[in-house]
Amino acid sequence: MDIEKLLREMSVFEKIMQCTQLISNFYRGTKLEDNTANAIGPYTQLGLKQSDIYLAGTVNFLSDETGAMLPSSELRRIQKECIEKSPHHIPTMFVQDVIHGYLTIYPIPLAMAASFNPSLMERCAAMAAKEASANGVDMALGPMVDLARDARWGRVTEGFGEDPFLGSLMAKASVYGFQGREYRIPNDHVGSCVKHFAGYGAPEAGRDYNLVEMSELTFRQFYLPNYEATIDAGVMAAMSAFHAFEGIPITGNKKILKGILRDELHFDGAVMSDYAACNELITQGVAENEKEAAYLSLEATCDIEMMTTLYAQSIPSLLEEGRIKMSQLDDACRRVLTMKERLGLFDDPYRQCDDKKASSLFLCPEHRALAKEAAEESVVLLKNDGILPLNDKSIKVALIGPLADNPRILGAWRCGGLEKDSVTMRQGLEERIGKENVFMAKGCDIDYKGRDESEIPDAVMTAKQADVVILCLGEDEDDSGESASKTNLSLPEIQKKLYRAVLEANPNVILCLFNGRPMILEEESKTARAIYDCFFPGTECGHALASLLFGDVAPSGKLPMSFPRSVGQCPLYYNHINTGRPRTDETHRCWNQSAYIDCPNTPLYPFGYGLSYTKFAYGKVRLNKNKLSYGTKDSLVASCEVTNIGERDGQEIVELYLRDLVGSVVRPVKELKGFQKISLRKGETKTVSFTIDESLLAFVGSDYRKRAEPGSFVCWIGPDSEVKEGVEFVLTKEQR
Ligand code: BGC
Repeated sequence: MDIEKLLREMSVFEKIMQCTQLISNFYRGTKLEDNTANAIGPYTQLGLKQSDIYLAGTVNFLSDETGAMLPSSELRRIQKECIEKSPHHIPTMFVQDVIHGYLTIYPIPLAMAASFNPSLMERCAAMAAKEASANGVDMALGPMVDLARDARWGRVTEGFGEDPFLGSLMAKASVYGFQGREYRIPNDHVGSCVKHFAGYGAPEAGRDYNLVEMSELTFRQFYLPNYEATIDAGVMAAMSAFHAFEGIPITGNKKILKGILRDELHFDGAVMSDYAACNELITQGVAENEKEAAYLSLEATCDIEMMTTLYAQSIPSLLEEGRIKMSQLDDACRRVLTMKERLGLFDDPYRQCDDKKASSLFLCPEHRALAKEAAEESVVLLKNDGILPLNDKSIKVALIGPLADNPRILGAWRCGGLEKDSVTMRQGLEERIGKENVFMAKGCDIDYKGRDESEIPDAVMTAKQADVVILCLGEDEDDSGESASKTNLSLPEIQKKLYRAVLEANPNVILCLFNGRPMILEEESKTARAIYDCFFPGTECGHALASLLFGDVAPSGKLPMSFPRSVGQCPLYYNHINTGRPRTDETHRCWNQSAYIDCPNTPLYPFGYGLSYTKFAYGKVRLNKNKLSYGTKDSLVASCEVTNIGERDGQEIVELYLRDLVGSVVRPVKELKGFQKISLRKGETKTVSFTIDESLLAFVGSDYRKRAEPGSFVCWIGPDSEVKEGVEFVLTKEQR
């Protein structure tokens, strides 16, 4: 397609409409006055005529009134109408929040990060892309790569946790999975839209949409890398975040969108606002009216307005008044058309959208198998006193708790995932050991407000009859996610009551925790015999957990976020600075130290932590040399022997951490700089090696440039971020 020629021929209104995103309801004959979408009303209220909707550049929310995904035939019909009814027959583009699966749902992104397995991430995103594209979706509104250190924020569930090294690899893998690796997106893939640029993961007090206050140094050092990784991977679009940063909401923040995203990071794709965010510039108090909001957004280079029509209403007069230039509108429109070109929509506007193909892919055995594999790899074993794995098939199991036979284990942003297709814990266990060996009791509701204790006695009776109790507690899948911030991260009181009662009846409690965020587990960590953090495992939950419980596979996931001891510690993260008065003793009150008087500084479970059914012993870290020459391509190799000293085979994620002892700005006490997942047979030893060069030592200085500085570094190789014994090396200016 000759996009420049097309641009010359398009009217101003056509160009503006390419920059407008509507929802699918408008095309479906749903009574528009009944439209309940919360931020927009009928199109007449948006100042559009029926015929205008066919000019919209992108269409979102591709579901019906029940939330089910529209069939591909419906999207074909809408596409056909758009092509026929628009003057230049430009195809629209269908976008959807494909976050962790389309119909086959794999674990929430936070759990995927726990797998420390970017290639698994890539395969899962590719599976989602395959299902979504067959059903007519052109672009996934993901990955969400907002770094998050505060478990109170519900959207930690959608991202890859607290670490930029792990986050960047997972972010990149997601884009590769969605889009493939070529400029032209293959038919069984979809475009990818990274979100939410930038820094949305640090709202004050963990409250969603709230102000983000941090230094530009911290922003660049920790928060930017994940987005940068997606740009490296060729991500086609970016979504601006809702919040205000340095006093300006991102959608109208020229420094962030134009300055950093485009000029510095050289992102040349389209930027879309988040849902109604252009309009929210008014509510946030930086624009007096719709016209000013449109002006600020376009000036900041926000190309697509999601769900509002400020551009349609105001750009014509802004052009007339000379406040914006035609070239700005052209640039925005060109970027939208270029996405369509990358997707091949001008050659084949339907791509491979096909009902038959879609239904043959949805939840097919291959996809279910991958979802199961991903769930198995992302569960983190937090505690095991030896009770696991269960190895006796005739063991009597009490399966108790509000999540024991509950299909709501898909997690937030489950796209087209349906409860009826989820394999519950009950189903998984009954298939594994037979119905006769599984005694069920719900015990109570999940609910935070739940007071009904009437089912607890039945749970107690059930627990008494069994050899072990598998207690399935945690959050409802919608208690994490957007607009789901919390001040209490413990289990709801009613679940605590159930927990205590069951534990008294039968101490052999294996706690299976379902959660979209780190939770406070002080009590449970002391009293349960074993704890799995299952997060939200997705469609294949029950099958994956049954194979973990009975040791078909050993758990290997490690935590992508620190688990606090108390909400008061939030935000909590391992890669913090030392302070001038670091805490020296975690058990006593420390005067004049950076500490709490009522709680240790350390998390209950640290970043990178997770157990297997076997034990791994780490040898001393060895360096092949202890000097690196500064300003060269010099590298050294750090290695360590890891031995499986337990009784079973297992997989271990071996982690490399570095510390820069002196920098021109304060440096974190530890930073993850590498990891490898290895398999070790019982008794086997492997040497794990990491190459360290100057690029791994680079950081953002006070001039915001990234470089390494000569000096001493510590290197650790270990099982988690609390690894103790490191070795030093020097980045030196002298020649070796
Ligand atoms: C969310 C985005 C999402 C958008 C469209 C917003 O509320 O913040 O992540 O992509 O809705 O669904």
